[in-house]
Amino acid sequence: MPFPLIQQRRFLFVTGKGGVGKTTVCAAMATALAAAGRRVLVAACGAEERLSAVLETRPIGGDVVEVRPNLFAVFITPKEAMSQYGAMVLKSRLAYAPLFENRYVTNFFDAVPGLREWAVLGRSWYLATETRGDGRFRFDTVLLDAPATGHALDMLAVPRVIMAVAPKGVLRRDAERAWTMLQDPAQSGVIVVTLPEELPVSETLELTTKLTESFGLPIAGLVVNSCAAPIFSESEANFLAGRSDLLAPSMTLSLVELSARLAVRERVQAQNLERLNALDHPKVILPRQGQPGAEGELVEVLSRHFSSGAS
Ligand SMILES: Nc1ncnc2c1ncn2[C@@H]1O[C@H](COP(=O)(O)OP(=O)(O)O)[C@@H](O)[C@H]1O
Ligand SMILES: [Mg+2]
Repeated sequence: MPFPLIQQRRFLFVTGKGGVGKTTVCAAMATALAAAGRRVLVAACGAEERLSAVLETRPIGGDVVEVRPNLFAVFITPKEAMSQYGAMVLKSRLAYAPLFENRYVTNFFDAVPGLREWAVLGRSWYLATETRGDGRFRFDTVLLDAPATGHALDMLAVPRVIMAVAPKGVLRRDAERAWTMLQDPAQSGVIVVTLPEELPVSETLELTTKLTESFGLPIAGLVVNSCAAPIFSESEANFLAGRSDLLAPSMTLSLVELSARLAVRERVQAQNLERLNALDHPKVILPRQGQPGAEGELVEVLSRHFSSGAS
């Protein structure tokens, strides 16, 4: 049951190869959690704000907004996050803002390696630890729609770098706290989104090894997105896949040729799903949806796969 796995952790770092469906999967998980009455925040980052298109809502900015009951969203940019962080630390946004509005800001970010990444990770960590007046957490779950694999690893490396080089102070203290939370499987986990294809699976195998062995971070699970529903029985597939001699280029495709191609594609998918089975992490298999364009509907359909009792 994948749902309780997501449900029990307050911070989920969602990554995977570019374009595999991270933002869509974040929106789907958030929709499922919100429908179950959990207060959930999706924190997006990166060059382009795509989350609002996926959620079919107004553009999302640096302030947290409730886009649907229980479903909150924010778009974190390093500059804004840093100024909010500074404001928080200094307790006065006014005193801090000018520092981030002048032309030195860019130089400042460039001069301190990892600061951009820390701004995003640190702000989402902070949002996951914020409490309300009654002492309860502001959000039950924070989903960070993190950058793609390589950049995500750079981001996850930053807390340890800060811990190693920063002088004793607020920055180091927060990096330590964030790292402690990230490493605690009761509080957080990484979700790797992938596709049942050669390259995304290879990248997933490498990424999960690195996360576990070099970073010591818990993996909450894998989401295998865009899986095609099988069309053929095993014997049909065996017959058709054996007829790859029919795959000669021609102007018109016979039904058998077309079927043979589909059977080959299905086999490739099955082989890649098999490769992922080598990993001992919970998996959620999501179907590939036919009609492009209706993002909201896609999210709604996919969200059902994260509901309690789904397999
Ligand atoms: N299960 C699916 N079926 C069909 N299309 C999908 C599915 N998941 C994602 N997509 C589409 O794939 C594209 C990339 O998805 P997106 O979530 O933006 O990926 P990422 O955040 O990893 O870059 C989008 O156009 C999205 O609508
Ligand atoms: Mg995205």
